[in-house]
Amino acid sequence: MTVRIRKAVFPVGGLGTRFLPATKAMPKEMLPVVDKPLIQYAVEEAIAAGIEHFIFVTGHGKTAIEDHFDSNIPLQVQLQKEGKEDLVRFLKDSTLESGKISYTRQSEPKGLGHAVWCARDLVGDEPFAVLLPDDLFHCKVPCLKQMVDEYPKTAGNLVAIEDVPEEKTSHYGILSLSSDDGKMVKVNGMVEKPAPGTAPSRCAILGRYILSPEVFNELDKQKTGAKGEIQLTDAMAETLDKVPFHGMRVEGKRFDCGNKIGFLMANIEYALDRPDLSEEFKAALKTLSF
Ligand code: G1P
Repeated sequence: MTVRIRKAVFPVGGLGTRFLPATKAMPKEMLPVVDKPLIQYAVEEAIAAGIEHFIFVTGHGKTAIEDHFDSNIPLQVQLQKEGKEDLVRFLKDSTLESGKISYTRQSEPKGLGHAVWCARDLVGDEPFAVLLPDDLFHCKVPCLKQMVDEYPKTAGNLVAIEDVPEEKTSHYGILSLSSDDGKMVKVNGMVEKPAPGTAPSRCAILGRYILSPEVFNELDKQKTGAKGEIQLTDAMAETLDKVPFHGMRVEGKRFDCGNKIGFLMANIEYALDRPDLSEEFKAALKTLSF
């Protein structure tokens, strides 16, 4: 049976304190990697995976995201007058079709599970994707597309995974595995941010999910977990006896742009991959001493 994943949820309510002062008056999701905001990479990845409706869970101070995906007619007219059609294309590429984008607000920072729960009425009763824009995937086949292609085989819940060093397991949701064929793992348990030395494996959940709507029944209970927040991992764990749960090692590189080193590395990788910048950038890098 082919199941179409039509809707994607983008939790973008987080404060971004790790990037202060840059994020004092600007959403962290608008930080650019080379010249494109993080959130636009996530939206383009969703489009490439066939997503048709984009649901943003926003919060205070996030209106720049709404403006970014809207048209900017005065700027467009000005650029057209100047004959700068190449720049007009950038404006059009980042404008989502009216009616295909919804915004809902998370009025309190109660955690990722709570953010996803805020989208429940907009998602309704169908499987949906969740993309955390902090996780940036540089892949030949976009990460969510790889997952959507595999999803008919797994159904239920499917998350992107990566094997992380033991000392990093406390930063992630960590899976406990009942089988592992190298690409796909079958999951029989999970824990959010396990205390050092207690992780059931090194298999970490990354910021890409395809979820069965079953998870909303668990999120409705509003149970708090790690850090006193409503955790998506806990709600997913509660559905384990009802829906199959798989993790998938995607092909490509992931950059954790929620921290400075990951963000800086992403900028270097993406710039080196840009035909219009690569040669000049390489030469410029060589002039640095370190
Ligand atoms: C969230 C999830 C965690 C997951 C991580 C991936 O944590 O709660 O399970 O492993 O994203 O980036 P956060 O990074 O928001 O603390």
